[in-house]
Amino acid sequence: KKIGIIGVPMDLGQSRRGVDMGPSAIRYAGLVPLLRTLKYDVTDFGDINVARTEEPKQSLNGLKEIINSSHMLAKKIVHIKKDGYLPLILGGDHSTAIGTIAGVATENKELGLIWYDAHGDLNTKETSPSGNIHGMPLAVSLGYGIKELVEIGVKTKKVSPDKMVIIGARSLDDGEKQLIKQLRIKVFTMHEIDRLGMSRVMEEAIQIVQKGTEHVHLSLDLDALDPLEAPGVGTPVTGGLTYRESHLAMEMLAESNIITSAEFVEVNPILDEKNKTAQIAVGLIGSLFGQKLL
Ligand code: ARG
Ligand code: MN
Ligand code: MN
Ligand code: MN
Repeated sequence: KKIGIIGVPMDLGQSRRGVDMGPSAIRYAGLVPLLRTLKYDVTDFGDINVARTEEPKQSLNGLKEIINSSHMLAKKIVHIKKDGYLPLILGGDHSTAIGTIAGVATENKELGLIWYDAHGDLNTKETSPSGNIHGMPLAVSLGYGIKELVEIGVKTKKVSPDKMVIIGARSLDDGEKQLIKQLRIKVFTMHEIDRLGMSRVMEEAIQIVQKGTEHVHLSLDLDALDPLEAPGVGTPVTGGLTYRESHLAMEMLAESNIITSAEFVEVNPILDEKNKTAQIAVGLIGSLFGQKLL
């Protein structure tokens, strides 16, 4: 099995610099050697050429640069998929997901989506409290938001609300809550995870995303984990998922064998402690791709 790695050194989707170094931090934490010990044929395609400076006075910070890099990323993903690679994308802030999902979504195959995150990332320009595009990628993928972002890729709506789940949510803005209700999106907040346990949550999540779909993408924001364990993120929220719950989730996805693309985003080495959060990302990627304790 072939895995193709693409880095997206993007930090213009939010206000704390440094998350552009996420791809390097994850690579330095030993990603490629680990995947090779798991017997994958791994190719690192390097980074997307993201603009380093921002055009001043835009309707949203970084909009033009994010539109450009999302197009480049989507194109690159289509190419490596054609060559038989499973795309593994390293962020960058979560605006990266706009390009990733545009790249994996196809005209006629239904996409399932797991959004593992403390946040909903379901804001539009109108509902966003911050104006940060990293709080909008899931809305964009569902067809809501800035036209130039929604229209990247083959179709405007990449995923149907009934074929996706959010896991780990504990910080949702009013507009996001409204959209969740309107679209009847299945959200496993920390409340459901505490009540049901991660095992049951993942069983239900896997059922939802694989029903009627031909491929499934995992978008994992490291801020889903508790900041005590994963401190290197720009928008930490207390009361998060543990290391163990997260490994279990990845192990169950490995067993289900449904994941056809994945991304790990929001690792910010400047805010991290000795690359701890990147190391956690690499460990989770290992579990996702079949690493076992015994
Ligand atoms: N909901 C907040 C906003 O829209 C925070 C978003 C955080 N998103 C993320 N990908 N970490 O600004
Ligand atoms: Mn080629
Ligand atoms: Mn988040
Ligand atoms: Mn996010």
